[in-house]
Parts: sequence; C-alpha cells; structure tokens
Amino acid sequence: MEKVHAGIIGLGRAGQMHLKNLMTIPEIVIEQVADVFIENVSEHLNDIGITNQTRDYHDILNNPKVDTVFIFTSTNTHEEIVTAAAKAGKNIFCEKPLSMNQVEEASLNVLREVKKAGVKLQIGFNRRMDPQFRNVYEGVRNGKIGTPQIVKVTSRDPDLLPHDLIQRIGGLLFDFTMHDFDMARYMMNSNISEVYAKGGTLIDPTLKDIDDIDTLALVLQFENGTYGLIDNSRRAVYGYDQRVEVFGSEGMLKAENVSNSTVELYNNKNEELQKPLPIFKERYREAYTAEMKAFVRSILKDEPLVAEGRDVIMAQRAAVAAKKSLETGLPQKVDTSYPLE
Ligand SMILES: NC(=O)c1ccc[n+]([C@@H]2O[C@H](COP(=O)([O-])OP(=O)(O)OC[C@H]3O[C@@H](n4cnc5c(N)ncnc54)[C@H](O)[C@@H]3O)[C@@H](O)[C@H]2O)c1
Repeated sequence: MEKVHAGIIGLGRAGQMHLKNLMTIPEIVIEQVADVFIENVSEHLNDIGITNQTRDYHDILNNPKVDTVFIFTSTNTHEEIVTAAAKAGKNIFCEKPLSMNQVEEASLNVLREVKKAGVKLQIGFNRRMDPQFRNVYEGVRNGKIGTPQIVKVTSRDPDLLPHDLIQRIGGLLFDFTMHDFDMARYMMNSNISEVYAKGGTLIDPTLKDIDDIDTLALVLQFENGTYGLIDNSRRAVYGYDQRVEVFGSEGMLKAENVSNSTVELYNNKNEELQKPLPIFKERYREAYTAEMKAFVRSILKDEPLVAEGRDVIMAQRAAVAAKKSLETGLPQKVDTSYPLE
C-alpha cells in the first residue's frame, strides 16, 4: 500500500484530537511530531508508540522521511509554518484560518509559496465533510429544492473560551464564524459579496478588553444574487448547536442537531429530546476523519482537495468585512476576485 509519511505540528486541543484520528487511517505513517511544549504530551505520546518527538517544527521540515505535514498550531503561526513547509517541498494540511491579523496580502503570499512549490494544501474546513451537511449539499446540487435562495447557518458554542486561547487562535469572527462563512458559501456555491453584521458582548463584557464579542447576527449577499443568515453565540446552555438550512424555489433542505440518542419522551407535561452532542470533537468526529481520508486520497490518487487556498481567502475576507461592518454599522462589500488562478 502506498503511504503518506506524516509530520504533525501542534498538539493542543485540535492537534491531539486529529492525531487520534490520523492514527486510524492505514495509509498514514506518523514519522515525527512537534510542539513547543512537547513535555506536556510526551508521556502520552510514548504510551501510544510515538517516540520521535521534537520541540522545533523545523526538525520535521528537515526530516527526509516526512513528505506531508499536518499543522494544528495556534492560528498566529499558520502563515509562517505553511510558508516554511511549502519551501521544504512538503504537502500540507493546515487548520483554518491562515491568518488572524486580517492582512490579506500576507495570506496570499503564503499561497503564492504553496503554488510555487507545487505541493498540495488542504485547509481544515471539516464541516464540508460532515455527513449531515454533505447530504444537504448534495441535495441542493442535485436540484432537490430547485434554485437555492437563502442559506441559514446557526452555530453556537456550548460555552465561552478562555481569553488566552482566544488570543492564540483568534476571536469569534476569525476562529468560529470562519467555519460558517465557508459553510454558507459552500452550500450556495457562490462567493459572499456583501456582509452586514450586528454583534456584541451579551454574555461576557470583559471580552471587549481583548477586542472580541460573544454574540453575532449576520446578513450575507452572494455573488449570484442569493442571501444568507448566520447567527452565532458563545454560550448555548443546551450544548453545541449546529444547524444548516437551504431554502429554494422548490423546497427546503435542513440538517438538525445530532445527539447521542434518537429516543424522544412524551408525557402529559412536555416532550423531551436528547441534547445535541456537547462539543466539536464529538459533533464532527466523522467529518474530521473524512477530511483526512480525502486529503490522503488527494495525495495518493490525485483526487480533489476538500478545501483549498481560495476557500480560506474568501472566508477570511468575509470575516474582515464583518469586522468592518461591526465597527461602522454599515454593510460591507467583499472582493470576490482571486488573483492566484
Ligand atoms: N476545525 C476545527 O473544528 C477546529 C477546532 C479547534 C481548533 N481549530 C484550529 O486549530 C488550531 C489550534 O487550536 P487549538 O484550540 O488546538 O489551540 P491550542 O492552543 O490548544 O493548541 C495549539 C498548540 O500548538 C502549539 N504551538 C504553538 N506554536 C507552535 C510552534 N511554533 N511550533 C510547534 N507547536 C506550536 C502549542 O504549544 C499548542 O500545544 C487553531 O488554528 C484553531 O482555529 C480548528
């Protein structure tokens, strides 16, 4: 069997979850792992048989056995590490987004290096591979609801994140809503061309100290003339609320929350459903493995990547426009051109 020889960079919340999933894929051989705080995970790594560990990701880039790197580090390192990995000639999987500093040119320069090196780059827009959302996507593409007109994405986290984590991985728009911009664009098969945002701190006013918000409502317009709505909250007391709906000329497709049980209780007081799965690791478990399997197929069989440079640039631009809309109180146009054909 042809194999992908992997180096893994970053073993925090996302990295440890991905590592577990990657170890279930027979075509992946994990050659080396890196984290600046490798001592925090070293014992666990030894226990699961991963002994080639380093603090410095350059060791992975200089390792001739590694042909592919998986980057799960804090967002503020993505541009630097993707650029270095491309220059080292490695295929790259990188968690979303590329940037949390809003400077688009820097992200485009990273993608220029990737293009120059001729390596693969897949971005971690895992929700595209969620079986429920994929079903909606395929139904829309197959014309089951006629011409799509409105997409609605509800995305609410179960609880607030620590401020220090937000400062490493980005605030609501660049970390969390990033997925929803991509999902809305994916479902409508059209670029977001305008964003109007209203948002604030209804849960944790101290988020203002780090220039973040916890509650957000967005109206989108797409290049093809259709519309979108996104609503976000950092605290849904009933769990991780993740729903998508596409409405069209001939009907509607919607994906409801996923829970551990389909059993519903009805009595003379009320009806009871199981709460949604509690957090991203559980809710998107299948999607995380599916995105990695697709990336492996792309490397070994030249099949299409799940999400590429263009996709992350379009989502980042929407986030920048939403931030500007929050600041100005006005709708903002989004550039839909892509200079790296
Ligand atoms: N797709 C998803 O659903 C999803 C979910 C969670 C996080 N993420 C993304 O994953 C990334 C990481 O988020 P997280 O929550 O795991 O953060 P985290 O802070 O828990 O983990 C980041 C890890 O990277 C390590 N690191 C930082 N700089 C490094 C460097 N230069 N070299 C080696 N290691 C380095 C840190 O020590 C830490 O262990 C973010 O970009 C975030 O947006 C995506």
